[in-house]
Amino acid sequence: MPQNQNKVTYGIDRMAFYIPEFYVPMTDLAQARGVDPDKYLGGLGQENMAVLPPDQDIITMGASAAEALLTDDNASPIDRRSIDLVIVATESGLDASKAGAIPIHGLLNLAPNCRTIEIKQACYSSTASVRLAMAHVMQHPSSTVLIIATDNARYGLNAPGEATQGCGALAMTVTQNPSILAIDPEAGYLTKDVMDFWRPSYLDEAIVDGKYSARMYLTGLINTWGQYSGITNKTIDDIDRFVFHLPFSTMADKAYRRLCQHTDHPEDPAEYVAGKQLNQQIGNSYTASLYLSMLSLLLADDGSANNELTGHTLGFYAYGSGSVAEFFTGTVIDGHKKYLLPDYHHNQLTQRQALSFDQYEDYYRFQSKIMSRDQGGNISIPTVSQSAPFVLTRISDHIRQYARS
Ligand code: COA
Repeated sequence: MPQNQNKVTYGIDRMAFYIPEFYVPMTDLAQARGVDPDKYLGGLGQENMAVLPPDQDIITMGASAAEALLTDDNASPIDRRSIDLVIVATESGLDASKAGAIPIHGLLNLAPNCRTIEIKQACYSSTASVRLAMAHVMQHPSSTVLIIATDNARYGLNAPGEATQGCGALAMTVTQNPSILAIDPEAGYLTKDVMDFWRPSYLDEAIVDGKYSARMYLTGLINTWGQYSGITNKTIDDIDRFVFHLPFSTMADKAYRRLCQHTDHPEDPAEYVAGKQLNQQIGNSYTASLYLSMLSLLLADDGSANNELTGHTLGFYAYGSGSVAEFFTGTVIDGHKKYLLPDYHHNQLTQRQALSFDQYEDYYRFQSKIMSRDQGGNISIPTVSQSAPFVLTRISDHIRQYARS
């Protein structure tokens, strides 16, 4: 589809993810829990699960993802002074008052004349951040908005949701005339007050009714698609690839199938599978998940005729439990591949270390300890990450201290 060079567009200019150096293979988790590995590998579609080590948290992961994007040597450098709004989207917030965007702003040495906020609505808050960022750059065309979606998905050791844990951060910038994706203003969106997944502030693990949540996810998809297609008169044939929020990767199969049934559209796996690959290796990253699916799709594009995405329309479905859902579209920009950091992202996945099962449980329990009122206020943090750009070094008088490593 040729792009209109004169049209002013708004959307995603740069993207980068960061994941910790540690993971647990799903086959090890299955063996330890006495579960058929095919349930995790085939039923949920997960291969490996990223694990948060003691010296990482949502701040260090978020700052690391943003640092990768800001220091990309292959693309023209981003003027850090143009960043006048930093939004952290998370549902693993470390403070009920102070925004996680503030320590990230400090670690990244951004300009002082900048707004910094944290936004919450489960996994939807990254999409809310994109909409807010677009409105900001429409008013201030030379601005760059930095969005950081960063989360640690925790359901509990031996809990039903354990196999759908994970963690990671995705940073993206939103600008006028972006380099990667121009996002359309039209969208279908829905709020429905349901208790499918939530985390009271005194808990460090989420409470989830996973099957109910999947039903609410699909209900939201059909509703928001209906609203979107009614506004735009578009059909499924107008969408080249689907990008889904993924609490686990086979959710994409369920979502796509439901949409096809609803619209009498023949199923074609080529329309969505390439967006699942990062989730399969990382697990659920909550707010980062939808945009990780997008990056997964774009990184899988090897330029062959079947995979070429330039000028193609992507259909996005964002879902945040509780719940808010949104369906929207965007167009992939010519030249986007230059901004995808393929070597950096490849290394993120391949230079990880598999934890022994005992280490996985120790790391999990350490996170519970530092999130507890009794033990988390004053504690030294062992440095275990070898190549993380930022680490958490200690907590003194309830103040987290960070270092560039
Ligand atoms: N081989 C292959 N597939 C198998 C299998 C086996 N031996 N055993 C089970 N499966 C399949 C099941 O058929 C099911 O597939 P389906 O959904 O297509 O029917 C899938 O594996 C999961 O099995 P299920 O019995 O439903 O698993 P569970 O009771 O352990 O629950 C979740 C799975 C996802 C509901 C649970 O992990 C959860 O609640 N996770 C949190 C989800 C979340 O975060 N939601 C909120 C954010 S949107």
